[in-house]
Amino acid sequence: MAAALRLAVAVTCALVLASACQGLELGYYKKSCPRVEHIVRAEVKKFVYKSAGIGAGLIRMLFHDCFVQGCDGSVLLDPTPANPQPEKLSPPNFLSLRGFEVIDAAKDAVEKACPGTVSCADIVAFAARDAAYFLSRFYVKIDMPSGRLDGRVSNASEALANLPPPVFNVTDLVGSFAAKGLDAEDMVVLSGAHTVGRAHCSSFVPDRLAAPSDIDAGFANLLRRRCPANPTTGKDPTVNQDLVTPNAFDNQYYKNVLAHKVLFTSDAALLTSPETAKMVLDNANIPGWWEAKFKAAFVKMSRMSRVEVKTGKQGEIRKNCRVVNHDHPHRHY
Ligand code: HEM
Ligand SMILES: *[C@@H]1O[C@H](CO)[C@@H](O)[C@H](O)[C@H]1NC(C)=O
Ligand SMILES: *[C@@H]1O[C@H](CO)[C@@H](O)[C@H](O)[C@H]1NC(C)=O
Repeated sequence: MAAALRLAVAVTCALVLASACQGLELGYYKKSCPRVEHIVRAEVKKFVYKSAGIGAGLIRMLFHDCFVQGCDGSVLLDPTPANPQPEKLSPPNFLSLRGFEVIDAAKDAVEKACPGTVSCADIVAFAARDAAYFLSRFYVKIDMPSGRLDGRVSNASEALANLPPPVFNVTDLVGSFAAKGLDAEDMVVLSGAHTVGRAHCSSFVPDRLAAPSDIDAGFANLLRRRCPANPTTGKDPTVNQDLVTPNAFDNQYYKNVLAHKVLFTSDAALLTSPETAKMVLDNANIPGWWEAKFKAAFVKMSRMSRVEVKTGKQGEIRKNCRVVNHDHPHRHY
């Protein structure tokens, strides 16, 4: 009986709660750097109040960090002669992912208070959480566990392979999230982040405007007026994800999905299976539903899967979020 229970616990630990078992916890820095979450929040506040779009960038940054090598700050690494093609130069990130300067500022402030103590990966998670807090006007309050370590690997091809592109249909989307231990509801709920921020025309032209699709005709015409038929790096304007409440972190996204006024095939795809369509309806119609679901799914994403979360001996606390620490005898992989 006791053995069976121990086995059950071990299996749960390995399959479901693995990252919790590995030591991500609330208030991980409460002894070593008690003010870290205040410090990060103050930096995020400065930037987000200047430009709401930066907050959207930070929310997306956690997603892009976690889906590639786990939540390990790998998205932050700059190119070097030894590693000329890090994640940030890959198509899903290059010229669109934003907010790196916020992470730098937060890291500087945190290093002043507690040198060498807080990982860049945790700063990304705190900053994304804080961006959701400010953009939701203090409604989406997330308790973010910490204790992640920074990775030393960042590879553009892995970002391309692991981040779902906007042309994905619902089957592909469910599969892409399942590969990260996230279910269909997590996928639907996290897609709701497309209630803030922007997209470059190249992210949905020609996919959504050329081929016949279920997109609202007036909305499509508006996009045609804003976007060139062939966006190029030099001429690639942006449009807001959510035309109704562009800077509010709210459930308007799901109303836009129902109205067929969303930018990507991946957004519209949520209506193409009965299961996900029901979730869209609930998120759109039940007050507070999406926000509660989002909080849980965002934390789940931030823990990522057991092999991918860098804890224990596989990572480090970077000094500068853009570069791995210098090689030294205690280097761990
Ligand atoms: C479901 C699959 C997803 C796809 C296919 C997708 C795709 C995209 C694309 C193509 C853009 C536009 C980038 C640009 O052109 O500048 C974008 C923006 C954005 N995405 Fe997603 N995304 C997905 C899921 C998520 C998730 C899970 C989150 C976070 C929880 C997220 C948060 C955002 C945010 C906030 C923006 C606006 C960024 C900004 O304004 O800088 N997305 N997404
Ligand atoms: C990046 O990942 C790809 C695919 O996994 C691999 O073929 C390539 O060698 C890696 N590049 C580097 C620099 O490690
Ligand atoms: C989704 O797209 C894949 C190819 O990427 C295809 O094999 C699959 O049948 C599509 N599923 C649906 C529901 O359209």
